[in-house]
This record gives sequence, C-alpha cells and structure tokens, in this order.
Amino acid sequence: MSGIRIVGTGSAVPETILTNEDLSRTLDTSDEWIVRRTGIRRRHIASDTEGVHTLAIEAAEKAIAAAQAKDPGFSREKIAAVFAATMTASYVCPSTACILQEELGLPEDIAAFDISAACTGFLYALQTAGHFFAAGKKGYILLVGAECMSRLMDYTDRSCCVLFGDGAGAAVVAPDERAESCFYEIAGTKGSRKELSCLRQPQGDGFLHMDGQAVYRFASLSLRNAVEKLLDMAGLTLDDIDQVVCHQANARIIDSVKKRYPGHEDKFFMHMEEYANTSAASVALVLDDMYGKGLLRPGMRIIAAAFGAGLSWNAVLMTI
Ligand code: UT7
Repeated sequence: MSGIRIVGTGSAVPETILTNEDLSRTLDTSDEWIVRRTGIRRRHIASDTEGVHTLAIEAAEKAIAAAQAKDPGFSREKIAAVFAATMTASYVCPSTACILQEELGLPEDIAAFDISAACTGFLYALQTAGHFFAAGKKGYILLVGAECMSRLMDYTDRSCCVLFGDGAGAAVVAPDERAESCFYEIAGTKGSRKELSCLRQPQGDGFLHMDGQAVYRFASLSLRNAVEKLLDMAGLTLDDIDQVVCHQANARIIDSVKKRYPGHEDKFFMHMEEYANTSAASVALVLDDMYGKGLLRPGMRIIAAAFGAGLSWNAVLMTI
C-alpha cells in the first residue's frame, strides 16, 4: 500500500487534573502503588461542560493550524474525509466526525464517520485513511482520537479508575509520494468480554470493568508480537526504526517490549505519567507530544502500536 504523510498534529486535554494523591483521599490506594504498577501520576478529567466533541474540535483545530504552517498546499477546503475514533462520544448521533465537519467548517462532499474500537481506534482511523488513499482518494484526511474515559469510571473501583484519563489528539494526513516511503499494517481481534467490557444500563452498570492481569498478559504479548511481525513484514530490524510509538496504558507493558531491544531504549517514548490511558486518544496524543518535543520529524520511520478492549490489537510501520 502507498504511504501516508503526517502533515500536522494537535491535541487537547481538560484543565482539571486528578492526581494519585487526590484519588488516595477517597480510595484505598497510594501514589507509590499506582506509579510502581503503571507509571501514571496524573490524569486530566473533563468538566461538565466538556466532552469528546469539545476536546475533538480543539485538537482538530490545532492539527489544521499545524498542517497550514507546515504544508503550503494544505487548506481546510482540501480535507476530503474525517474519521473520529471514540467509544465515549458526547452524542449517540450525529457522530463526532459529523460534528467536526460542521464546527470546523469543512466541505460537505466528504466522508465523515466514527470508529468504535477502544484503544485501537486511532490506528484503525489511520489504516482506513491509508486504504482510502490507496483506492484513489485525493486531498487530506483528518483523523481524531478523543475520549472521556472518566464517564465510564466507577470511582470506587481502585483496580480500574486509577488507570484512565480524558483527552483528544488529531492528525491531518495525506498520501505520501516520496520514493522512500513505506506503510505496513497489521490488525487482530479475539472477541471476548471477559477481560475488558462496559455494558450500558439497564443490562449493565455502565462502568468499565477489567481483569487487570489478563489484560496485562494480552497487552504485553500483542505489543511484542506486533513489533516483531511488522519488522518481519518490512524486512527491517529495530536499527532501521526511529521511534516505536506505543499506546500509553502502562509503563510496565512498554518496558516488557523495550527489554527485548537492548540499546534501543530511547525509542520507546512514554508520557502516561501525565495523561494516563486515554484509550482511542492515546496514540494521537503521544504522536502530537512527540512532534512537539522534536522526537518525530518528516522522513523518520516509525512503528505505532495499540491494544485494548475487543480484545483488539493493531499496528503500523510507516515513514512519517
Ligand atoms: O488499554 C488497555 C487497558 N488496560 C491495561 O492496560 C491494564 C493492564 N493491567 C495492568 O496494568 C495491571 O494489571 C494493573 C495495574 C491494573 C494491576 O496491577 P497488578 O500487578 O496486575 O495487580 P493485581 O490486579 O494482581 O492486584 C494486586 C493487589 C490486589 O490486592 P490483593 O488481592 O493482593 O490484596 C489488588 O486488590 O493490588 C490491589 N490493587 C490495588 N492496590 C492499591 C488493585 N488496584 C489497586 C490500587 N491501589 N489502585
């Protein structure tokens, strides 16, 4: 498949911060426990006036501004599709993507839809963009991952609520015509509601429930396999990869993969300390943070990988 160029990125998080110390005031937990087991110190939590749509709009506006600054050929009139990944949309309908079309003043002759795939949602949006481009779609595609995980949390369940936060990330992407560009992708599904699920009322309680250890085992294995498989498909080694951009669920999960590649530790950026696990927003948020810190630059070759409820996993190896 032809490559995808990341033209501009943006992100948005709520102002309100919930620290581990804050949680330990109402829960039998501690900053020490949470940091040691997960690497998380804080998470951003949406107020009553914020939601997936408001965070998505802010992140998307920033990605559009970044694209305008970086690519003279870009204008918002050239956005040909919008894919929004979320499982906590403010509106049941219309989709978050339709709200983005209206609020951002995008053309009407575009495809706009949401992707519900929990933590793998943003990479599915990226992969879908790749397929649209491969099928001949011209112009730019706006991808957004946005989530208000706090709305699914039972704040008396210490095994789950300490792990998640709210936020949004966005990217404007375009077909990549550079000769050296590459794009490889994988995706997998093992449907199961045992490890991670959230059933709406009245059948369920509307809270996210998780078997932490089972998810941990699945996540570590799927991340490790994803990196190995993509390198194999591309006939490359980690020497040929500039950064491995992982879904930010738990530092120990990323460490378990990092350990297998001695000498490459600096390629596994982490920032769950600040944002916790933001599900579909996670990979988009980390991409934007890495661009902002100068860790990602045009022409670099990266792997991006995610795993989560489904159970699902997906990953790409691409030139950015
Ligand atoms: O996008 C994918 C989303 N999910 C994940 O990535 C989660 C993957 N799983 C994990 O990250 C880890 O399994 C957790 C961080 C959730 C839990 O760590 P663990 O080492 O697997 O702990 P555990 O579930 O085996 O629990 C050990 C103990 C238990 O107490 P007892 O039974 O030994 O007395 C838990 O009740 O730790 C207790 N515990 C806590 N203690 C303090 C569970 N949560 C907490 C907490 N604070 N927040």
